[in-house]
Amino acid sequence: MTADDASTLAEALRDRAPSVPADWRVDVCARTESTNSDLLERRDGVPCALFALAQTGGRGRRGRSWTALPGDSLTFSLRVRFDGRADRLSGLSLAVGVALAEALTAQGFDGLALKWPNDLMRATGQGAGKLGGVLIELASTPTHTDAVIGVGINLAPPPPGHYALPTAALFDGTQPDWLRIAAAALDALAAALPVFAAQGFSAFAERWNRLNLHAGYAVEVEGEMRALGGLCVGADADGALLLDCGDRIERVLAGDVSLRAPVRN
Ligand code: BTN
Repeated sequence: MTADDASTLAEALRDRAPSVPADWRVDVCARTESTNSDLLERRDGVPCALFALAQTGGRGRRGRSWTALPGDSLTFSLRVRFDGRADRLSGLSLAVGVALAEALTAQGFDGLALKWPNDLMRATGQGAGKLGGVLIELASTPTHTDAVIGVGINLAPPPPGHYALPTAALFDGTQPDWLRIAAAALDALAAALPVFAAQGFSAFAERWNRLNLHAGYAVEVEGEMRALGGLCVGADADGALLLDCGDRIERVLAGDVSLRAPVRN
């Protein structure tokens, strides 16, 4: 891709994403190691979106990887500045998930759901598979916090065995429409982030809970230190996961959720 192609694509994204403020930079590159790493290095305070057609060393949550070949995956990061310290941003990744799931549903894709804390899921013939994920990295000062919000979404199905968990894709057997999905995702986040800045996750909690893949199911949450079982109640106003453990409600702040019991009918 030439520099002209990249800027034409960036302009097309901007045209199709009217919620993007005029002062945001929108960049597209043919290939990079990780869009999150690239934006973590930019410290000029200018809000920026960086899309990579191919990503060779993309990072996921808990040390996992998220690579992408051209056409297979939508990979991008946004760098935005919020007032205050990082603790004001609890639930940001869940709010991002809500905005993305709703935007994809509005684009006509069915079966979208969210898995706590920040997996985008989609119904497949055999249950739900992971469609995408969000990785947020923060750099804080006493007055503001820069958030790099990284998003990876499978446009085409990943090669079998590429990821440990079942996967899903937006386009299975049809040509992925990168520009349409990239613009819809960018527009949705540009609209959602000011709402999050003003109201926090409480503005998104009800919507997150409507999309919660595991609502009412028996689940296990595997944290760094221990595993916890219970009925999945949902996310609270700060984005913590509430688990009904029978004799008490536990508030979980980090971990991986999986189903513990067979799916009910
Ligand atoms: C996860 O589910 O583990 C999160 C995956 C996030 C991957 C995206 S792809 C764009 C951005 N750049 C990265 O290196 N990671 C995120």
